[in-house]
Amino acid sequence: CTCRIFENGSCIQPFAELSLTLNSFKDFMYQFKGTCYFTNGTQRVRLMARQIYNKEEILSFDSDVGVFVAVTKLRQSSAKSCNAQKDLLAEYQAHVDTLCRHNYYQTAFFTVQLRVEPMVTISPARTEPLNHHNLLICSVTNFYPQQVKVRWFWNKEEETSGVVSTPLIQNGDWTYKILVMLEVTPQPGDVYTCHLEHPSLQSPITVEWWALSESAQNKMLSGIGSFVPGLIFLGLGLVVHFWNKKGKSPVEEML
Ligand SMILES: *[C@@H]1O[C@H](CO)[C@@H](O)[C@H](O)[C@H]1NC(C)=O
Repeated sequence: CTCRIFENGSCIQPFAELSLTLNSFKDFMYQFKGTCYFTNGTQRVRLMARQIYNKEEILSFDSDVGVFVAVTKLRQSSAKSCNAQKDLLAEYQAHVDTLCRHNYYQTAFFTVQLRVEPMVTISPARTEPLNHHNLLICSVTNFYPQQVKVRWFWNKEEETSGVVSTPLIQNGDWTYKILVMLEVTPQPGDVYTCHLEHPSLQSPITVEWWALSESAQNKMLSGIGSFVPGLIFLGLGLVVHFWNKKGKSPVEEML
């Protein structure tokens, strides 16, 4: 996209002429910033084309108005001279299609339409027995875009008090994460549910956390308790098996 600079009411081309005009200053910075605003896909598009000299805006074209606007009084004559050139105005107005809409179609797939499904897990903040105060953390990680709605349920009823959330954390790789905590004092049989809505999901994700009673926990522990001796016996059995096969004990083998 070409941009033209106007000084003292006359039209000049950027860079070469600009540095000639301003050659009494050694260092200067000229910036051209084109910003496209999309408020409803490609239905509503607005282009702001700003020309900036040493961080001060000189002149900008606003496609909603269809003319150049001077930011300071000093530049009003430049704006007037630009606006007198109908072909230039048409050229800038055309950028709404040739630049903004064009770029939207080129990039929408990996920007506006990008969807990354979150991972959701629940974990208690501390290992505490039941009937003790604790925090349940619902970790929602690696999602895009940032709009997300996380709710906590206790036995099917929504919990709104005792819910604390971290701010939305930007990972810097086009994904976000958020932790939503619920204050709890779990009773045996309680079910806590983290409920999540996100544009990447057809239907909400729900993850449950069950408050296991002592006896249920004991059953689990005794399950592990019988699993471990089982493994030891299996190991012994294998040693005996190979020993018989080779006719030598592993100890003899080592000697
Ligand atoms: C956005 O554009 C669609 C057409 O693509 C239109 O039906 C809808 O009403 C527009 N929404 C708003 C808020 O203007």
